[in-house]
Amino acid sequence: MIEQIITASTFTTDEQELKQAVAKAALDLIIPKLNTKSIVGVGTGSTTNCFIDELAAIKGVFDAAVSSSEASAARMRAHGIHVMDLNATPYVDVYIDGADEVNPAKQMIKGGGAALTREKIVAAASAEFVCIVDQSKVVPVLGQFPLPVEVIPMARSFVARRLVDLGGTPVWREGTTTDNGNWILDVHEFMIEDPAAMEIEINNMPGVVCNGLFAQQSAHVVLVSSSNGVDLL
Ligand code: A5P
Repeated sequence: MIEQIITASTFTTDEQELKQAVAKAALDLIIPKLNTKSIVGVGTGSTTNCFIDELAAIKGVFDAAVSSSEASAARMRAHGIHVMDLNATPYVDVYIDGADEVNPAKQMIKGGGAALTREKIVAAASAEFVCIVDQSKVVPVLGQFPLPVEVIPMARSFVARRLVDLGGTPVWREGTTTDNGNWILDVHEFMIEDPAAMEIEINNMPGVVCNGLFAQQSAHVVLVSSSNGVDLL
């Protein structure tokens, strides 16, 4: 399988080309697993957009997609891909999504596009999570990218104070409302040495809907594109 994923180093390091390359590799990885009953979970973001554009070419090969955001659902529908509500699907075979950071344990920070809550739900509902990133997203320790935390609007200041107590510097992403009608705090200067423990601790704060640590459930597969091609993390 690894041989199928690695592609020849014929592309440049242009950021968009790296996203397209890893999206194409993800499609090549999942195609053998798909059939006309398959449900594909689809994430959110610029790398996932490249994947959606690839997925459109094989829309007859699988049954439907489940989306993690209104934006991805709209992009898929524009391609003629059948998009289903998660409530109407008894299973999701595979989930494909980007990440803002990923560590060697395949744990991630996600939510730069504010879709973290639905992403975590669809990822959890899926039998397999394939994360697609370029090399710039791979880090030894999570936390250089500000950690997004989705909060109920009336709890914003309360949760922010709790996050300060934890050692972070939360910044309200003003002007952004999630698909769920909530707000985002981006937590800067967090040293995330134990991502799984921190994921639980933040999720336990009253008013927090979800945080962007994907550590309790990490990715099963991470595909990384670089100037050398696409490889497994
Ligand atoms: C969306 O909320 C995020 O989790 C994205 O998956 C993440 O920000 C990666 O996005 P890009 O592919 O645009 O970098």
